[in-house]
Amino acid sequence: MSSGKSSVILGIESSCDETAAAVLVDGVVRSNSIAGQEIHSAWGGVVPELASRAHQEHIVPVVADALERAGIRKEDLTAVAFTQGPGLMGALLVGTCFARSLAQGLGIPLIAVDHVRAHVLAHFIRDGVERPVPQFPFINLTVSGGHTQLVLVKSPLDMVILGSTLDDAAGEAFDKGAKVLGLPYPGGPMVDRHARGGDPKRFKLPMPQVEGFDMSFSGVKTAFRNVVMKGEREEPGFALRERADLCASLQQSIVDILLRKLQKAARHHGVGHIAIAGGVSANSALRNQIQTLADREGWQAHIPPFAYCTDNAAMIAQAGLFLYEAGRTAGLDTVPVPRW
Ligand code: KG4
Ligand code: ZN
Repeated sequence: MSSGKSSVILGIESSCDETAAAVLVDGVVRSNSIAGQEIHSAWGGVVPELASRAHQEHIVPVVADALERAGIRKEDLTAVAFTQGPGLMGALLVGTCFARSLAQGLGIPLIAVDHVRAHVLAHFIRDGVERPVPQFPFINLTVSGGHTQLVLVKSPLDMVILGSTLDDAAGEAFDKGAKVLGLPYPGGPMVDRHARGGDPKRFKLPMPQVEGFDMSFSGVKTAFRNVVMKGEREEPGFALRERADLCASLQQSIVDILLRKLQKAARHHGVGHIAIAGGVSANSALRNQIQTLADREGWQAHIPPFAYCTDNAAMIAQAGLFLYEAGRTAGLDTVPVPRW
């Protein structure tokens, strides 16, 4: 897949609430820097205007940090890859303008990356640690705070969306469920933590009946809210007392929806490799159960290392490398695309 040409690619990610930069030298990660935004926790979700302001503050130091850790001067870069979308307009604008200016200043190619595809390409990130990579074609379940998709991946640049969520993203379902329990944003990791030791069968939540490979989480979300509200009405303090079982039940329902569809798609397309990517693939129940599913079916399961599951710039640089090698560079007039 490699052209054999030496490449030094800077990846920049600013689609939501992480400002990130990474350097890939000849296809291997040399640095992967990230600045999160604690500020949204107090608001129970990402506030777009605050996100843009934080990106403005972070972008220069984060890129400088990535270059320094990689031992690379900006003059050594051969291309700049950035997240063009989807995401928050004001947030994307910061990364886009920075990447455009840098590429123009250095006279090097600019590469526009689709954030959701980049999550899938995180499986191909090389960082010196040996890991098996998925064999094409494979089915990837892309699950994050903004997206939930089942994708047939035929090659790095050829992906077919088989199904998506009809309403909330899986990460949103975790975050909204967590909010009902009074847990801070982002709630997914908190639900994961509190679910350990909880009984996943304690509270029955409905399994949506959705055709094909599409998914829906709004029924589970509403049913979960109703269980908590009813419990609180009848015995105040219920949400806190029953937190472990509530979190485990919510988590299991979301994981069941995801894995049933993944199993259906993999069987339908006769693939031998299945994979997950995106922030929700950090979820411990999902990670364990995709492995169990693969073992049962005789498939191979692939899960990116934790640092490449949630938003990061190594995946943007990796996607950028595939595009660069295919000669797919972008014009300096490229604008963000909030809805891809
Ligand atoms: O991919 P990502 O970092 O950002 C987006 O592109 O959206 O995903 C963030 C989402 C959030 O909804 C967060 O709650 C969820 O991933 N998440 C988790 C876990 N870690 C992150 N959800 C469940 N369990 C986790 N351990
Ligand atoms: Zn993401």
